[in-house]
This record gives sequence, C-alpha cells and structure tokens, in this order.
Amino acid sequence: MFRWRFDDEVELRLLQMRNAPELFALVEAERDFLYNWLPWVDHHRDIADTESFIREALEQFILGDAVHVGIWYKADLVGVIGYHRIDVVNQLGELGYWLGERSQGKGIMTRACQAMVDYGFSDLKLNRIEIHCAPTNLRSRAIPERLGFKEEGVLRQAERLHDRFVDNIVYGMLASDYSPDDS
Ligand SMILES: CC(C)(COP(=O)(O)OP(=O)(O)OC[C@H]1O[C@@H](n2cnc3c(N)ncnc32)[C@H](O)[C@@H]1OP(=O)(O)O)[C@@H](O)C(=O)NCCC(=O)NCCS
Repeated sequence: MFRWRFDDEVELRLLQMRNAPELFALVEAERDFLYNWLPWVDHHRDIADTESFIREALEQFILGDAVHVGIWYKADLVGVIGYHRIDVVNQLGELGYWLGERSQGKGIMTRACQAMVDYGFSDLKLNRIEIHCAPTNLRSRAIPERLGFKEEGVLRQAERLHDRFVDNIVYGMLASDYSPDDS
C-alpha cells in the first residue's frame, strides 16, 4: 500500500474504498469553501460519488494514468493531492490539490506537494511537473511559488468554473530544475 509519512504530522495514503465515509464527510463540511475554486464540487453530491472517485482513482493508479492520495494531518483526513494527469509518453505530470478551510495555514499542502514532487521525479521518472492555478487563487499560487516552480504563462479560459470560464496560470518544474536536497 502507498503510505508515506514524511514528518511527524503529515502522511499521504492511497485512498481506499473504506475511506469513502471520511472523505465524503470532509467534502460535505467544506462544500461552500471548495465550491469557490473546484468545478467538481457541484457534481459530488452523495457518498456514491465519493466511492466512484476512489474506485476510478485506484484503477488509474494501477494503469499508471494518475495518482490520487489522501492527506492525513495527525489523525485526520484533511484533503487530497494527486497527479490527475500523467502523460507517460512525454513524462509529464499535472498536480492538483485541495484542503479543508480549517486546515489551511499550517504548511500541510506545501509539505504534501513537495513530497509528491519528490515522488514524481524519483519514482515516476517524470521530466516535467505542472500546477495550474486560477490567477485570483493566491493561496494556491503560493504553493508552486514557495517550492521553486517557474511561472510559465497563462492558458486563457482553460477551466470552466460553474457558470464561467477562468484563466489558468501554468507553473512548471523540470527534472533538471529539481534538486532532492532542496526538500
Ligand atoms: C490551495 C490550498 C491547498 C492552500 O492552502 P494553504 O494552507 O494556504 O497552503 P499550505 O498548507 O501550504 O500552508 C501555507 C501556509 O502555512 C504557513 N506555514 C506554516 N508552516 C509551514 C511550513 N512548514 N511550510 C510551508 N508553509 C508553512 C505558510 O506561511 C502559509 O501561511 P500564510 O498563508 O499565512 O502565508 C487551500 O487554500 C485550498 O485547498 N483551497 C481550495 C481548493 C483549491 O483552491 N485548490 C487548488 C486549485 S488550483
């Protein structure tokens, strides 16, 4: 099982079906907050949606198409991070993430993201990792900026967020930019 505790507080674990009740409860509790930034929230209405997400994530993990993991802070599931797109031919992975509002401000996602970057370059043998953020999502943008990603440009109206299209800023890191000793 993929289970990675990289400091005293934060642990990443591959999501399993038995985690569905806890994950659904988190989405329910944080629905209004997450709705501001994440298009899938509106279509995630009951526990069957959570179970479908986990089942699909496990299938994608087996196929090598994606890696979604839960983030546990101390004993609680507080969010999700993952390579939701892995392009094997081009050795490219795109990272996405979310946390509950009350878990912000503790560096949990920066640490989780650094661990996933390490995993991406070391284990998945990626050559390039991307993170896409809406221009106004300053907390999300701060994560790749903190980790030394380069801001590379803007994809205009690349994401449909409920009733509107929003631009995405693309942050990239190359294997040649990466030094494991920085982590
Ligand atoms: C994006 C999101 C994960 C950012 O959360 P966050 O708490 O700001 O990020 P981190 O967990 O890395 O915490 C960083 C904060 O903890 C502080 N911190 C404390 N200890 C830290 C540590 N060891 N390392 C880094 N930062 C630390 C930082 O100073 C920063 O605080 P600040 O915002 O006051 O400057 C969160 O806002 C979220 O899930 N939003 C909704 C979904 C979303 O937007 N997803 C991204 C779509 S692109």
